[in-house]
Amino acid sequence: MWIPSYTKLENDDIIYHVVRRFPLATVIVHDSRGVHVDHLPVTVAPSAPFPTAGSVLSAHVARENSLAEVLRDGADVTLVFHGPQNYVSPAWYPDVHDAMAVPTWNYIVVHVECSVELVDDRDELLRHLQDLVQHGEELVNGTMTMSEMSASYVETLLPYIVGLRCTVRSVTAKAKTSGNHGPQRRLAVAKELHHRGADPMMIDFVLPHPDVVVRRATLADVNGIARTHVVSWRETYAGIMPDSVINGIDVVGRRLQWQTTFISHANNVFVHVAVDNRQGIVGFVSGGRTRSQDLPDSHEIYAMYLRKSFQKRGVGGKLFASIMADLRTAGATSVMLWVLADNPTTGFYEAMGGIAIERRDITYRGATMPHVAYRFLP
Ligand SMILES: CC(C)(COP(=O)(O)OP(=O)(O)OC[C@H]1O[C@@H](n2cnc3c(N)ncnc32)[C@H](O)[C@@H]1OP(=O)(O)O)[C@@H](O)C(=O)NCCC(=O)NCCS
Repeated sequence: MWIPSYTKLENDDIIYHVVRRFPLATVIVHDSRGVHVDHLPVTVAPSAPFPTAGSVLSAHVARENSLAEVLRDGADVTLVFHGPQNYVSPAWYPDVHDAMAVPTWNYIVVHVECSVELVDDRDELLRHLQDLVQHGEELVNGTMTMSEMSASYVETLLPYIVGLRCTVRSVTAKAKTSGNHGPQRRLAVAKELHHRGADPMMIDFVLPHPDVVVRRATLADVNGIARTHVVSWRETYAGIMPDSVINGIDVVGRRLQWQTTFISHANNVFVHVAVDNRQGIVGFVSGGRTRSQDLPDSHEIYAMYLRKSFQKRGVGGKLFASIMADLRTAGATSVMLWVLADNPTTGFYEAMGGIAIERRDITYRGATMPHVAYRFLP
């Protein structure tokens, strides 16, 4: 799926919400016999850590569905969840006569890559059916439960279906929701969609939203920081660092690291986050007393990462200014940071007034790479 940066949907809560609200997935499997496409309602337990890799989605098919046979030996499957979608008429734009007014189609979709195992176990299948009924009833504000249905009829039908346990490998999501248009057009489109009874999720996405906010982080931000850390790390170092180092960090490990920062070093480390009101935490910066004792600087910026789709619109500058303000208040006389010499971000630090003061080879996770230290006067 082609995902221009302004359509990239990265907020796990929203992705979860799309899959819960629109559970009928298009199931795509391909094997040596060809491509198999079907449509199945899929459940995700309300408490499951979906969309994290390793989380589990459940579904079922009729035993006589050829898909059951295709999936019998274990198969890689793509599930496509279709969120709200709407045609957008250029007639709705206040500047309709502008040369750049053409129709478009807005939509929100989630693609889940997973490996699927068949479930013959009666109890697991029943649990999935109970979840599915509860989920469906929630969608229609109903209260019906499995226990109110004829148990003997359910028992009669059970042998005719087989469960699917889908273990998530990766999730990509896209919200093509007028994000490339200015606030006037977005407001006008949101009004027209509301008038036509469009899904509230679509209207919420289309409405113009305020800029990314930069604020001090708290312990409650740990999950968002850890996710952004991993995503931005991979985006930043692809092609610069060896793959073993790039893939060496994961969300769980980063969560532990950031929990330690907030719980054990709360008084010594400053952390600021950049928060988008739809995508959640999209960037962070941390700093405190210098760790490079052999350099004369009193303080250091330890890490600074911003998701690619939010770069080059001033957010990094805001993060930098806010950490420098905290370090200044903490008594910093000069602030340094280490950056990989091959990282184009060196240009950002120079734009922030940094002066290169030192070059060193630093070994990280077994890879030795040239680094540059920059100094800033607070
Ligand atoms: C570093 C980072 C936070 C900068 O964020 P950003 O939002 O893109 O930066 P901004 O848009 O606020 O840019 C501020 C200024 O820096 C300049 N700038 C930004 N990136 C630049 C680059 N790579 N080269 C040269 N100048 C750059 C901008 O042109 C802007 O200058 P201006 O104020 O004169 O217009 C972001 O690029 C990032 O997260 N990169 C990946 C992670 C990384 O490498 N972290 C460093 C590890 S030590």
